[in-house]
Formats: sequence, structure tokens, C-alpha cells
Amino acid sequence: MVMDGLGNMNPPKNGDRPYFIKEINEQPNALAYTLAQFMGQNFQLKMNRPPLDDQTLKSIQKTYITACGTSYHAAMTARYLIEEFAQIPTVVEPASECGRHHSLVDETTLAVAVSQSGRSPDTLAALDLARRRGAHTLAVVNEADSPLTEAAMGTLLTLAGKVHSKASTKAFTSQSLVLALLGLRLAQSRNLLRKEWRQEIESFSRVPEMIREALMKKDLEPKVIEVAKFLNPYFQTFILARGHLLPMALEGALKLKEVAKIHAEGYPAGEFGHGPLAMAGPDTPIIMFSFSDEEEANSLSLAFELKARNAPLILITEDGPKKDQALASMADTCLPLPQVPSRLRPMVAVIPLQLLAFHLGQARGLDVDHPGGTLQPEIRGLGSEDTAKSQIGPQIKSQPAPQILAPGAPGSPVSVQAGSQSGPLDSGPDQAGNGGQAGGQGKAGARSGKKGNGGAPDHP
Ligand code: BG6
Repeated sequence: MVMDGLGNMNPPKNGDRPYFIKEINEQPNALAYTLAQFMGQNFQLKMNRPPLDDQTLKSIQKTYITACGTSYHAAMTARYLIEEFAQIPTVVEPASECGRHHSLVDETTLAVAVSQSGRSPDTLAALDLARRRGAHTLAVVNEADSPLTEAAMGTLLTLAGKVHSKASTKAFTSQSLVLALLGLRLAQSRNLLRKEWRQEIESFSRVPEMIREALMKKDLEPKVIEVAKFLNPYFQTFILARGHLLPMALEGALKLKEVAKIHAEGYPAGEFGHGPLAMAGPDTPIIMFSFSDEEEANSLSLAFELKARNAPLILITEDGPKKDQALASMADTCLPLPQVPSRLRPMVAVIPLQLLAFHLGQARGLDVDHPGGTLQPEIRGLGSEDTAKSQIGPQIKSQPAPQILAPGAPGSPVSVQAGSQSGPLDSGPDQAGNGGQAGGQGKAGARSGKKGNGGAPDHP
């Protein structure tokens, strides 16, 4: 048996299953390693080096968090927790937008740049701008040896191990966990959460176990495969969520676009009735998160509207009794997650969407490891929008168009068959052909080797 640095059995190799699904399944280990480095004795949090030392933190009046792509969605999760735990006003901004308007980043700001590779030019430029404005700078990064770590005053590492797949999964949940711990550290520096401390820390220390439970839940992946088969003929979908779950809807939509090439839009459920509802109909399935009774109550009238328009409804929810079963009874299918504490739901709720992107991508015969939707770092960012635009055409690798059947066309399923036989998890074409090339797509050199080319720390 071969073990990799993360303790995963039989780590990926060329010709094996795609890295994308392997990395989804590596999340429990990635999170456990990431967590372990910050957990001290008696629930002490080991996060007190500059700029997270008490003296610096006392001077912090606001937090500015910036990132690109999936890392940006992880950054969004941090805002809720930093504001809630530490009561520090927090702005989250895509790195490509940084510097395009007057911003309040100054010497009272903790500026946090989040990146798997530590090499995204926009993120580097945003951190540099924050530094020039006098902010205290912190990198949350997976590749220890990267320009972002060099540029920031301090670093919090995600220990997700090497990343081979273009589309980020294990780095994303690891980033979300580190940012949650950062929220706790900021609260601690302000003497907040004293009573709740143990409970909160204990709760976050269970994230790896909770994600493992979700991945191993025996009815989840077969149901996801059914939903993937169902979605295959469609051109678009919306993913609706509220509050802490909204970044997960945006992240799920990004994964579906990038890996499965379906137009997917994450949207606040409460905003959907202000215009986008016009899009709902039989040709637009809606995926909706609903966990608490309160969410159910809030979503019920929207669900009635969706059903009145014959829009297929897929619910992501958790096992166990709810006071109100009305929403579930209106859904065409439910993707069931194990019950988890509400704080941990976002990190667990993204799992079915990652799996859905994988199975839909496979069903469409796509190369899920190299979806080709990412601009080369050389032409992204650094304010060089015009240069980038002029180069986009030749740089994007052409992909064969997925074969998509119109809803109702012969051979296209029109509804999810409850209890239908699921295919084997390996069904669909094997897309592992490029597996040996970490980073793929011919990137060379330190700054252009965007994904997993050796900078991420491995574990003994
Ligand atoms: C994109 C990738 O190109 O870059 C995403 O497809 C990633 O998966 C994003 O989230 C940002 O990269 P990084 O390395 O800065 O987190």
C-alpha cells in the first residue's frame, strides 16, 4: 500500500481517477492537518505571531480580506465569523477589484490575502497595495514557499497538501477553517467569547470528522449521481442560499460552471423573488439549501412560486426531523447531509456541490482536472485588463463542447426517479489522462506554475 504525505492511501497517479475527485475525498485529512498546527493544549489557539500578536491586534479596527476565485468564496465565509465573533467590521473584495476605488484600508487594518498557490497576480497586487497603505498584512496560503508568503508580514498555512486539480476543493475548505480560527483569534484579542470559547473551539475541531461523515454517508453520492444525470440535459441552474451558506452557493455555482460547464448562478434566496424568478421554469432546475426550521419557513413561499412555474427543485438538507416537512415534500429530490452544528454547516454543505460538479463533468465527458476556464497567471490581473483582454483568445485552451441535450429531447431524463438505481461511482469516461502533470496546461516557471507544483508543504 502506498501512502502520501497526507496519510491518504494509494495517492493519485497518472491513469488513475481524476485528481478532482481524489482531492474532494482528501478533505478530511487536509483539514485535520491544517487544524492540528493551530490547536494547543487546553483549547489554546496557536496563532499569536505578528501580525496576530496581542499588541498588533489591539490596534486593529477593521479587517480587509481579498482573494480570487474559490479563495474569494472562502474569504466571504470569514466576514460572517469575524464580525460575529470579534465584532470587527470586515470588507471582502475580489482581488481584481482592489485599488479601483477609494478604500478605507489603512494602518488600523488587518489585510488578509487568501490563496492556494500564493501566486495569483491580483492577490499579490492587492496585498502589496494594502501594505503600501500601512495595513498589517497576513497571508492564508497553501504553498509555503510562494511570493505571497514572502510579501506578507505573517502567514497562516493551510496544510492541504499538493493540489493537482485546477478547480480547488480541499484548499477551499482548509482556507474556510483557518479563517474561522482567525475569527476566534481576533475575538480572543478583544476578550470576547470567553464563555463560549471551549464550545466554539471544540465545534471547529470537529470539522474534519464532519466532512468525513458527509463524504462517507452512503446515500449521498448515489443521490448526487442521480442529480447529475438529471441535470445533464439542462443549460442552467440557480443555487439559492441564505446567510452563512451563501458563499457555498457561489462556490458550488463556480464549480459547476468550471468543471461541468453548466451555467450556474449562486444567489441569495431572499433576493431571488426580485427579478430572477422570471427565469424559473421547467428548463431551469433550482438547487436550494435548507437546514433550519427558520430557513424552511423563509423558503416555503419561494418554493410554491417555483413549483407553480414547474421548476424542478433539488433540496440540500440534513437528516433528521424538521417541524415543517412541507418544503421537502415539494422538492423533486433531496441531497441528504448528516446533522452538523450550524457553524460547521457551510463547510459541510459545499460537499454535495463539489461531488455534483465532478459527476456532471464526467457525465458530460469533460476533463474535470483541466477544465480550461482559468487564464494563465501571466495575463491575469496586475491591472493589465486591456493586455489581458487582447490575449485571452489565443491563451484559452479550446475544449470540445459538451454534448448537451435540450430538456425533453429523446434520451434526456426529465425528472429524478426516486429510488432509481444509481450507477457505479466510476461510471462515465475516465478523464485521468493528464494526471501526471501537476499544474497541467504547460505552465512553466515559479510564477506561472499556478497549481501544486511542489510549493505546498507535504507531511512527514
Ligand atoms: C483559479 C482557479 O484560476 O484561481 C481557482 O481555477 C482558484 O480554483 C483561483 O481558486 C485562485 O487561485 P489561488 O491559488 O490564488 O487560490
